[in-house]
Amino acid sequence: MTKQQDPWGTDVLVDFEDGIAWVQINRPDKRNAMSVGLAHEMNATLDALEIDDRAGVIVLTGVGEAFSSGMDLKDFFRATDGVSDVERMRAYRSTRAWQWRTLMHYAKPTIAMVNGWCFGGAFTPLICCDLAISSDDAVFGLSEINWGIIPGGVVSKAISTVMSDRKAMYYVMTGEKFDGKKAAELNLVNESVPADQLRARTTELAKVLLEKNPTVLRQARMGYKYARYMDWEQAAEYLTAKGDQTTFVDPEKGRQQGLKQFLDDKTYRPGLGAYSR
Ligand code: ACO
Repeated sequence: MTKQQDPWGTDVLVDFEDGIAWVQINRPDKRNAMSVGLAHEMNATLDALEIDDRAGVIVLTGVGEAFSSGMDLKDFFRATDGVSDVERMRAYRSTRAWQWRTLMHYAKPTIAMVNGWCFGGAFTPLICCDLAISSDDAVFGLSEINWGIIPGGVVSKAISTVMSDRKAMYYVMTGEKFDGKKAAELNLVNESVPADQLRARTTELAKVLLEKNPTVLRQARMGYKYARYMDWEQAAEYLTAKGDQTTFVDPEKGRQQGLKQFLDDKTYRPGLGAYSR
């Protein structure tokens, strides 16, 4: 069988390193603004990485001084102004696909590494990654109001899942910028670190995830993401079934290992660390 050509290489770059796939938005001259073309390439890239054994954890970041300056005012907004309704809908669908649906329900753990500018539409992939780490000197902003649009796409929805109403409304209405430390306070990222520690800290976190049973990790992530929109009765039923499904699909039989190594072999304590794989 001939090897398929990697779908990245122009607007998206991918480097592999010890199980981590560093997925980089590669439009540094445009501060990594997200165009229609980028959406197509990113959809194909994420699809390919989901079944690529070199990628155990995905880190989403940007080349150069930006994570992403948001949607491309020229190659997304202006470019879709003059086209038919159907073409416009397809461009929006393609963008939402990777920024939201794919990342939200991705088979592998995802970390957003915010290395610089992060505006508007960039909040969607940031929030839809499982975890996020920022550089202290990154600059964030819901700048939509500054140029006459609302935080659309699914930005307003996305921020409402992590920020408090008061704080979200403040930034929606003022468009005020803030740094990485503030982003951590606002719950937009898990933590913020000095720029020179960003990659090392992200790598360290990715390595923790790589040590876990990947099937159980995937099921745990999905269990949480779906259960949060259910009522208690539904969540209890769903999570019980999800737990059973996890045991069924886990090739490693982690649950049995965990029980045996704690109860019979007495070789570890689950409260203090993971069973030996
Ligand atoms: N869309 C299109 N082009 C962009 C974008 C963008 N979002 N951001 C930067 N660029 C382009 C600039 O037009 C410029 O292009 P040129 O070299 O062809 O003239 C190039 O990138 C460099 O931009 P500068 O503004 O010169 O870079 P600087 O480092 O001084 O400033 C900053 C960076 C602060 C990110 C600034 O570019 C900016 O404010 N960008 C827009 C941010 C924004 O509001 N994004 C939209 C949010 S709304 C949404 O996403 C739905």
